[in-house]
Amino acid sequence: MTMPEPATPPGPATGTKVPQRPLAESLPLCQSSALAERGLAFGFDVRLWGQPARAFALRFDGRVVAYMNRCAHVPVEMDWQAGEFLDHERRWIVCSIHGATYDPVHGHCLAGPCAQRRLMAIETFECAGQVYWYPSRDIQPAAASADTAQTPTGPTAPASKHEPPTT
Ligand code: FES
Repeated sequence: MTMPEPATPPGPATGTKVPQRPLAESLPLCQSSALAERGLAFGFDVRLWGQPARAFALRFDGRVVAYMNRCAHVPVEMDWQAGEFLDHERRWIVCSIHGATYDPVHGHCLAGPCAQRRLMAIETFECAGQVYWYPSRDIQPAAASADTAQTPTGPTAPASKHEPPTT
């Protein structure tokens, strides 16, 4: 099976971008029609550092952007209702917990307690009516890395923080 060629942007506001990595490394995410301009986000399951997590994609100024659903202030999900990440003016991504405000295009913190950090971005591209995403070292598909997710990679923790008293 061959992947379709990237679509030619039909106008200046489409945001369709040419993939920077091989198409074979991408995964289908959703139909383009699922993402209305500044509308509801499309949420999807991933594994972040081997643990189940949520991510989202939304269309902003014609371009599909995707991020981990994980605030830079406290690592919690940010949408105030399922798929609702934008403020009332549909201009900024706003965390529903303490109001951190992010630039939808780059994920940079603009205001609030996110303190100049940024959202974790996920690379996407769109062609032939389909949105694709690229897994990364840290962000993997929900099912693909299940086998390795249980394998600890850090130093072995002590069996208990509370050692029995010695007498
Ligand atoms: S958890 Fe998002 S602003 Fe505090």
